[in-house]
Amino acid sequence: CGIVGVVGTRNCTDILMQGLEKLEYRGYDSAGVFVTGSNKKSKLVKSVGRIASLREKIGIDVAGTAGIGHTRWATHGKPTEDNAHPHTSTSGRFILVHNGVIENFVELREEYLSNDVFKGETDTEIAVHLIAKFAEEDGLTTLEAFQKALKLIKGSFAFGLMDAEDPEVIYVAKNKSPLLIGLGDGYNMVCSDAMAMIRETSEFMEIHDQELVILKKNQVTILDAEGHEVKRPSYTAELDLSDIGKGTYPFYMLKEIDEQPTVMRKLISTYTDENGKMKVDPDIVKAIQASDRLYIIAAGTSYNAGFGAKAMLEALTNTPVELGVASEWGYDMPLLSKNPFFIFLSQSGETADSRQVLVKVNELSLPSLTVTNVPGSTLSREATYTMLIGAGPEIAVASTKAYTGQIATLAFLAKAVGEAQENPLAFEFDLVKELSLVAQSIEATLSEKEKIAAIVKKNFLTTRNAFYIGRKQDYFVAMEASLKLKEISYVQCEGFAAGELKHGTISLIEKGTPVIALISNNEKVALHTRGNVMETVARGAAAIVIAEEGAARPEDDIVVNAVHPYLSAISMVIPTQLLAYETSFQRGLDVDKPRNLAKAVTVE
Ligand code: G6P
Repeated sequence: CGIVGVVGTRNCTDILMQGLEKLEYRGYDSAGVFVTGSNKKSKLVKSVGRIASLREKIGIDVAGTAGIGHTRWATHGKPTEDNAHPHTSTSGRFILVHNGVIENFVELREEYLSNDVFKGETDTEIAVHLIAKFAEEDGLTTLEAFQKALKLIKGSFAFGLMDAEDPEVIYVAKNKSPLLIGLGDGYNMVCSDAMAMIRETSEFMEIHDQELVILKKNQVTILDAEGHEVKRPSYTAELDLSDIGKGTYPFYMLKEIDEQPTVMRKLISTYTDENGKMKVDPDIVKAIQASDRLYIIAAGTSYNAGFGAKAMLEALTNTPVELGVASEWGYDMPLLSKNPFFIFLSQSGETADSRQVLVKVNELSLPSLTVTNVPGSTLSREATYTMLIGAGPEIAVASTKAYTGQIATLAFLAKAVGEAQENPLAFEFDLVKELSLVAQSIEATLSEKEKIAAIVKKNFLTTRNAFYIGRKQDYFVAMEASLKLKEISYVQCEGFAAGELKHGTISLIEKGTPVIALISNNEKVALHTRGNVMETVARGAAAIVIAEEGAARPEDDIVVNAVHPYLSAISMVIPTQLLAYETSFQRGLDVDKPRNLAKAVTVE
C-alpha cells in the first residue's frame, strides 16, 4: 500500500492524486482520499480499482488545503469500498490511512471496542476506532490518543491521521513501513516514498521507526517514542523524473525490455573510468575482502538475479555465496559464518521482507550493501553501502531491466573484489568488452520479437501450464522465466532443473504441454538438457528450445548470441521476458498491472 498526505496548499487534491498515481506500484486494488480545509468542509472519496477510477469519481468539486490519500494492496479483507482507506471513526471526526499489518487487531478489538463500530474487515480500522475512543470517551487530546494507540499496536505501520476538528494538522507515525516527510515552501507533505513527492519538492526528512510527526503548514515536529522532540536535518534528493513516460509503447514492460542494452552500456560508464578500470567504492571492496561469506537476501525477481550472479561472484571473489529468501530469513538468523557480508538485492529498495532482515543485520552490527534501482530508498538508506543499478524507473510490475541490471552491477563488484585479491580470473574477465557483447546480444534477441510472438500464438494462448527447464545457470534463468510468465499471463509455470524433472514432476506432462528448454553454451550440460527435452517430447510435450550460439542446432526455435558464461543469465533471460510479454499481450491482459500483485510489497 502507499500513503500520501499534504497540508498547507490549495492544490491539495491535485497533489494527493498525483502522489497516488506514483504510488500505484505499491498496490492498485482500491484507493481513497480525504480532503479538508480551514472552513472544515471536507470530503471523503473512495473507489475500488485503480487510481484512474478514483479520479473519475472525484470530479472537480473536491478542494481543500489538507488531506490524506491511500492506494491499497489487500492484506486483510477484500478490495471493497468499505475496506478501502481512509477509514473514519464512527463520529467521522478521525480519518486515517495505513500501510502495514496490525498483528494484534483481534486482541485489541476484544479488549477495547465493541464489534458494531466496524464497517469493514481490515486490520486498520482498529486504529482509528481506538484513537476515537481515547479522545472522545477518555478526553485525551488527539496527539495523546494517537500516542496511546501507538503504544498498544503491534506490527508494522505507516499511519497518516487527521482530526476533522483541527484540519490544519496531519499526524503521522511509522514502524517498519516506509514513510518520508517532504518539505515544501508554505506546505509540507508525507509520503511512502520520495518519488511520489518529487514534483512538489526535493527536500526530504527521514522518519525513524517508533517516531510520531506532527505536520503543519510551516512546521514539522518529530517526537520519539517517549514524546521527546527530535531534531533532524533535512536532505536534498536528486531524483530524475525525465524518463517516466511510456512514449509510443503499448506497455511499460516492453519499453523496459527494450531499454536493457542501454542499461548495460550505462552501467559500464557508471562503474568504470575512461581507461576501463573498475570504479567501485573501495570501502565496499575492502569490506567484502574482509568477509568469509556473502549472503544475498532478496525477494521475487531480485532473488532470482542473486542466483544469476552467484557463480560469477564465487569464482571472482573466491568467497562462498549463500542466498536467502527474505521472507524466510527474518525469523531466526541461520548459523552465520564468522565474518558475513550481506548483499540486499531490491529493485525498489522498499520490500518489507528484505528490510526486516536488514534490521536484524544492523542490530548485529554486520556490514551490508544494497544493490537497488531507487536512490534514497529505505534499504539504501539503512544499509552500510549502496550500489545503484541506474536502470531508470521501472514501472511495469514484472521486473525486467532491474533483473539484468542487478546481475551486471554485481559483475562490477565481483571483478573489483577479484582484482583487489589479485585473482587472475578477475583480470582475464574483460568486463567492459563482455558487457558490450551482452548489450549486442540483447539487441539481436530484441529483433526476434515476431518469431517469439508466433511461438506464443502457437503454444501459449490457451495452455494452463508450462515448464522451463535448464541446468546450472540455465536453471536459474528458468526460475526467473517461469516467474515472469506466471506473473503476467497467469499460466502456471515451473522453472525446473532439467535433470530433476524425470524424478516426479514429469508426470504432469501431457499432450501439448509447452516445455521450454534453455541451453546455453556449456558443453558439460547442453547434451544432457537436450536428452531431457526428448524425454518430455516422448510424453507429448510441445518442446521449444532457446539455445545459445555455439550450443544451438538448426532446428532450435530461438538462438541467442553467445556471451561470457558469467553473464549468460542476462542474455538468456531476454527471449523469456518477450515470451511472457507476448503471452500476456495476446491473451488481452493488462501486462503492466497484473492481478493480485504490487510492484513493491511493503508488508511482511
Ligand atoms: C514484488 C514484485 C516482484 C519483485 C519483488 C521484490 O513482489 O511484484 O516483481 O521481484 O516484489 O521486489 P524488489 O523491489 O525488492 O526487487
